[in-house]
Formats: sequence, C-alpha cells, structure tokens
Amino acid sequence: MANLETTYLGLRLKNPLVAASSGLTSSAERIRKLEEAGIGAVVLKSVFEEQINNEITSLLLYESHHSGYPEAEDYIRHYIRDNTVSKQIKLIETLKKEVDIPVIASVNCVSANEWTSFAKDFQEAGADALELNIFYVPVDRKEDPGIIDRLYAEVLQKVKEQVSIPVSVKIGLYHSNIIGMVDRLKANGARGVVMFNRFYEPDIDLDRLELTSSEIFSSPVEIRHTLRWVGLVSSQVPEIDIAASTGIHSGEAVVKQVLAGARVAQLCSALYTQGDAAIPSMKAEIIEFMKKWNFNRLEEFRGRLSYQQIPDPMVYERSQFMKYFSNRGK
Ligand SMILES: Cc1cc2nc3c(=O)[nH]c(=O)nc-3n(C[C@H](O)[C@H](O)[C@H](O)COP(=O)(O)O)c2cc1C
Repeated sequence: MANLETTYLGLRLKNPLVAASSGLTSSAERIRKLEEAGIGAVVLKSVFEEQINNEITSLLLYESHHSGYPEAEDYIRHYIRDNTVSKQIKLIETLKKEVDIPVIASVNCVSANEWTSFAKDFQEAGADALELNIFYVPVDRKEDPGIIDRLYAEVLQKVKEQVSIPVSVKIGLYHSNIIGMVDRLKANGARGVVMFNRFYEPDIDLDRLELTSSEIFSSPVEIRHTLRWVGLVSSQVPEIDIAASTGIHSGEAVVKQVLAGARVAQLCSALYTQGDAAIPSMKAEIIEFMKKWNFNRLEEFRGRLSYQQIPDPMVYERSQFMKYFSNRGK
C-alpha cells in the first residue's frame, strides 16, 4: 500500500503536496478547503514590506491633506504595521485551532530589520515554520555583484537570532552559484530551501507602448528549471530539505521532483488553474507511479535520479544540444 507521508523542515506531512504562498492561502476559509481536498501543508500569503510601505505612504498622503498633525505620522506607521501583522497573527491563531496540517508563515522583505520582528510575532502566534521570501533587484552598476548572496545570509542570520522554529528560504534562479548559495544558507541555519520563486516578470504592450506584466501563472514546461537544480542541490547539500516550486501541475511532475531529491512540491498555478481537485488527482497519480514501480514509501525513490545517483551526471551539467543536433543531422 503506497504511503505518501513525508517530513519537511522536521514537520510531519500526510503527503508531499504543499500549497505555495499566494492569495489562495490568505484566509482560514480557503485553507480549510485545501485541507479538505487533502493538501499536506500550507505556506501563508506573504506579508510584504512593500505592501506595508505603500499603505503607509497613501495614508500619510491622506493625512497630510486632512490633519496637519505631525504626530499623526508616527501613529499611522504603528497602526499600519500592527494592523497588517496582527491580521496574520490572527489567521495563524485561527488555523492552529481549526486545521490539522502544518502552517508555514511567510514574510517578504528586503530589509533585515523589519523581518526579524515579524518573524518573532509569527512564531509566538503558533506558526510551525517560517519561509523567507527575499527578493532584491540590483539596479546600480556600481553595486558589488555579490550583494544578493550576502543579503540572503544576513537576513537569515538576523531571523535565526529571533526564532527557534525551522526557517526555509525561498530563492530565485538568479544566483551566480546556486549550490554554493544553498550551502551558505544551510551554514547560516536554514532548514530548508524553496526552489524557485517565480517572479512577476515584465512585458511590453506594443499597442499602448507601455510596460505590462507577463503571464502570472506558470506552465508545466517550467519544471525543467527546477529539476536540474533540485537534482544538483539535493546531492551536494543533502542536509537541507528541498521544496520544489514552479511549474508543478501534475502528480507526475511531483514524482519527478522527488526522484530528483525534493521532499515536497509546492503548488500555486496548478491550484489556481485546476482548482482544489488538482490535489486528489495528483495524489492518485503519485500512487499509480508507486504501484507501478513497487514503491511503498517516498523515501524509497527520493533522490534516486539526483546528480550523484545517475550513471551520467553530465545530463544535469549541460544541455544535450550537441547530441540532439548530431542526431538530427543523420
Ligand atoms: C497570484 C500569485 C500570488 C503569489 N503570492 C506570493 C506570495 O505572497 N509570496 C510568495 O512567496 N510567493 C508568491 N507567489 C509565488 C508562488 O508561491 C510560487 O512560488 C510561484 O507561482 C511558482 O509556482 P507555480 O509554478 O506553482 O505557480 C504568488 C504567485 C501567484 C501566481
């Protein structure tokens, strides 16, 4: 009998399907439905520093027109911060009473200062773990190219000084050495890494000559970005738990990520486009694969096709275009 249980960040999960941080994980009602559909864990919608700052700015603008009291500024800053954070705290507290699955809080910030106080609040509210979503776009040519890696390590260190719950870091694809970066995160106390975030990407509208945003949902072909790095990182930094993320739209895609070495698969676009029905259908596909290959537990095939386990690890290191073109030429 196929058993889908797994652990992630030291937490026990009934299966490896985790709802990724998004609007789908921003309310207790929605999360209860995900649990009913069989999700293994949830990562809450991130609290964004940007969002807090924007709220502050618009309220300050409003106030400057209406009050003329300079002390209002301090009040508003505190009110907004407390209000945004307290909503999250309330959500975590409610979920801890009402659902039976691990609840991972998520914070998004580029400044090490704000992170730390958020982190502590979430831990006190009962979050089982914390996911740090750090996104920094260097736009200054004079900035040292190593700044992003250092920023991640610095933020993580500061958070780890504040909390004892497990911390994972959600990273992007744009690091000069992803394996070295994950190794450094591990050394700074990360229990897990989420590979990868999929950022809001720009596009250009040629009819309006305006910048717009490109497709916000991933497509199934995007798992290839994740597969290579999950396969490499799981071999090179085996002490860290990997949550595969981006482009996972089927049970087969989950199986592939586990074969490459992931502990869990985070789902976002699949839940938006297929609805909660994606969860039982993915579980059924994983079970079907396990029956076909006579596997009883995920551990029996986790990492079986990771970088160090396959006879030709070059497949992970280089794309096979030479072979492809030479075959086509025949
Ligand atoms: C509408 C939407 C909202 C999202 N909000 C967040 C967020 O608050 N925090 C975060 O870390 N990632 C957020 N993400 C990114 C997802 O968690 C996920 O990493 C990304 O969509 C790639 O996974 P997918 O291919 O399954 O969609 C969001 C994605 C979407 C589409």
